[in-house]
Amino acid sequence: MTDHYGVIGHPISHSQSPRIHTEFARQTGQDLDYVALDAPPDGFVPAVLDFRAHGGRGLNVTVPFKAEAYRLCATLTERAQAAGAVNTLSLDAEGIAGDNTDGAGLVRDLQHNLGFPLAGKRICLLGAGGAARGVLKPLLLEAPSRLLLVNRTPAKARALQAEAGHPQTLEAGGFDDLAGQDFDLVINATAASLQDELPPLPKDMFSQGAAAYDMMYGRETPFLRFARAHGAGLAADGIGMLVEQAAESFFIWRRVRPATRELIRTLAARSERA
Ligand code: ATR
Repeated sequence: MTDHYGVIGHPISHSQSPRIHTEFARQTGQDLDYVALDAPPDGFVPAVLDFRAHGGRGLNVTVPFKAEAYRLCATLTERAQAAGAVNTLSLDAEGIAGDNTDGAGLVRDLQHNLGFPLAGKRICLLGAGGAARGVLKPLLLEAPSRLLLVNRTPAKARALQAEAGHPQTLEAGGFDDLAGQDFDLVINATAASLQDELPPLPKDMFSQGAAAYDMMYGRETPFLRFARAHGAGLAADGIGMLVEQAAESFFIWRRVRPATRELIRTLAARSERA
């Protein structure tokens, strides 16, 4: 019998997840289908329950429902709790379990695909919204020497810092605090790229050969252009993170880990990572 999975969000028509999971299923020989569900802004919970009532086994959750998904779950993994958000729901008759694979996806893309180990590195994470929160703890667990969390509204960065622990490693502040500092890795988790904007970054923040990572994907962002022009040796968009967070969800549901490299390469041919 074919098992049913999907991704739920609003809007959802641009989601790559059906394509990614269908490819994972083909490659691993798993008998499943995967659809895109568009729920109205006030209709998330009924849509999930309806999907489960019709035999649905799992859902990925995307904008704007990750916090609502978190509240819906009877059980949550530690990393979902740290993220305060859920992107992977496992559905069965007993209840709904939630996980968050975004941070694992980013870490795996950086370390495994891009060959950039995080231990001992000086990291700057830009942003303090849901995207930053989802990856903060998984980054800290890789033991960087320091992680500076920077946000336009510094108080939000400091609030996240207070929650996250790791007082020896984690600092927080605003863009002014970047003056005179440099980093081995700068990750853009702000929404600036969506608006085609560049956060106010100093030109000397990239150490020789540093890596720059934009969690947005699909086009060359002002942040990646800036990084390349000011010393970054590696500049990657978030297409690898997208595929890796999907692979981690697939593993949670099916206990099989799909290969990702080829698919990232195919999808990246349309972005600039290729
Ligand atoms: P997401 O869930 O994608 O993180 P969000 O919760 O709305 O979305 O957070 C957006 C993040 O991008 C915030 O950190 C925001 O900064 P503020 O907290 O000060 O609002 C940041 N952001 C949005 N536009 C930005 C811009 N043009 N420059 C710098 N930071 C920006």
